[in-house]
Amino acid sequence: MESKLTKIINAGFLVSPDLEIKEEHIEDFLKFLKTKDPKPIFVTNELYSEFLGSQKKELEIKYIVKRPVDRRSEVDTSVKLKKMYRQTNKKIDINDWLTYYLDRFERLSNLLRNRIELRNVVSISRILKMTGRQEVATIGMVKDIRKTFTGTHIVEIEDPTGQINLILKSEDVVKVADEIVLDEVIGVIGTKSKNVIYPTKILFPDVPDRPIKKSKDDVYAAFVSDTHVGSNMFLPKEFSMFVKWLNGKVGSEAQREVAKKVKYLFVIGDLVDGVGIYPGQEKELVIKDIYSQYEEFAKYFADIPEDIQIIVIPGNHDALRLAEPQHVLFEDIARPVYQINNITMASNPAVVNIHGIDGFPGFDILLYHGMSFDRLVSDVPFLRKFGYERADKIMEFLLRKRHLAPSHGSTLINPMARDFLVIDSPVDVFASGHIHYTKIGRYKNITTIGTGCFQKKTPFQEKLGHNPTPGRVPIFSLKENQTKVMRFL
Ligand SMILES: [Fe+2]
Ligand SMILES: [Fe+2]
Repeated sequence: MESKLTKIINAGFLVSPDLEIKEEHIEDFLKFLKTKDPKPIFVTNELYSEFLGSQKKELEIKYIVKRPVDRRSEVDTSVKLKKMYRQTNKKIDINDWLTYYLDRFERLSNLLRNRIELRNVVSISRILKMTGRQEVATIGMVKDIRKTFTGTHIVEIEDPTGQINLILKSEDVVKVADEIVLDEVIGVIGTKSKNVIYPTKILFPDVPDRPIKKSKDDVYAAFVSDTHVGSNMFLPKEFSMFVKWLNGKVGSEAQREVAKKVKYLFVIGDLVDGVGIYPGQEKELVIKDIYSQYEEFAKYFADIPEDIQIIVIPGNHDALRLAEPQHVLFEDIARPVYQINNITMASNPAVVNIHGIDGFPGFDILLYHGMSFDRLVSDVPFLRKFGYERADKIMEFLLRKRHLAPSHGSTLINPMARDFLVIDSPVDVFASGHIHYTKIGRYKNITTIGTGCFQKKTPFQEKLGHNPTPGRVPIFSLKENQTKVMRFL
C-alpha cells in the first residue's frame, strides 16, 4: 500500500490513512482525481467508492475465456494492415475542406493521367484562352450537373485554374451521363467551341486489370457483417449455427471440410445495433446498453476457433462518430471484443493483406462498411435502377470512380489533408456490408463481396421495400479465387 499511497501523494493530494485501494486501479483513480471538478485535496475511501461507481460499466464486463480448439489443420496465417486510418484530434475548419478536395483532385487526376488518351491534358484556364474550334483533353472535378428542357446534360467541371461547361451530345458520352456524379474527378476528350467543350469521350479513373491470384494453400476467408447484436431482430440461432459450422459441428461432410479450412473471418461493421442511432430504437432493443451489446457480441466470437484470424471494422451502428474514415472500435467500450486473442481491429475503410506467406504476395482486401451506398442508390440514376439487391453494381461503380463516396453528402466525411476514401492501392477483393443483401460479383478480376446480415427484416426496411438476405455468409477460396455463399437460414 505504501507505494500506491506515495503515487497519490506525489500527484499533489493528501491521503486519508485508512484509504484502501486496489493496485490495478491506481492509474485510473489518479486520472479520475485529476479530472474531478473541483479537484479534491483530501483523498478518502468515499472518493474511491465514487470512482468505482463511475467505472462500474467497465468492472462489470466479464472477460472472455478462450475455448480450446481441436481437429484443425496446421496452416500458417498472416494479416497485415496495409491501409489503416488513425485518429487525429485536430479541429476541422473551412480550409480543411479545400485541402481535402485539392488532395482528391491531385491524386485522382494523377491516376487519370496514366491513361494514354489523357497524356496531353491541358488546364481549363488554357482551354478557355484557346480561340476557334480545337480538340482538347482535360481533367476536372464535377461541380454541377443539369439538364436542359430538351434533355441535354450539361456538366460543369473545374480544376484549380478555372471552370468550364461540357455539353453532352455525342452518343458515347450520353450513354454515361447517368453515371456522372458531383465531386468526382473525370477525364474529358472533346472539341472546344466558344466557351464550352463537346466531349467525345468521358473517362473515369477506373482500376487497372488485375491478374487473378491463387494461393497454393487450400484456405478460405469468410465475410460477415451487420450482426446488429442487441437488436430484437438479431438472429442468435442462425449466428450460433454459423459459429458451430466454423467449429465443424454442423453441416454435411463436405461443408465441415470447408469449415476446417476457414482461416480468415472478416466482420465488416454494424457489430451491434448501438444506442440512440435512430428515433424509437429503444423499442427495438433487447440489450439497451452499448457495453452489454459488445459483451454479447464477444460471447459469440469467443467460440470461434483460435486459428481463425478475425478482422473487424466498424460500421454506422457501432459506438463511434459517423464521419468517415472511422477509426477502430473504442477499446473501453468494446473491451470484451478486444479480449479475443485472434481479433485484429482495423478502421473503416481499411486495406488488409491476408495470407502473404512463403513468397505468396497475399490478397489485398479493401474493407468498407458501405454507408455511402444509401445515397448512391437513391441519387445516381444508373444505380437506382439496380436498387439494394446489386451490391456488385455499386462496388463496381466505386472501383471505376476510384472513390468510396465520390459525392459530397454521399457519406459524412471527416476532411483531412489526405482523402482517405480514394481507392488508390491495389485490391484483389472489395468487401462491404451495410445494405444487408448478399451479392457476389467480379470486376476486372477484383472479387466484390456484398456480405449480408444476421438481422431479420426491420420495420424500416419493410417500409422502404428492402428485402434483406439474413443468414448468408460468402466464403472466398484463396486457392480457387472463387466465392460461394453458405446459408444458415
Ligand atoms: Fe447494418
Ligand atoms: Fe450499416
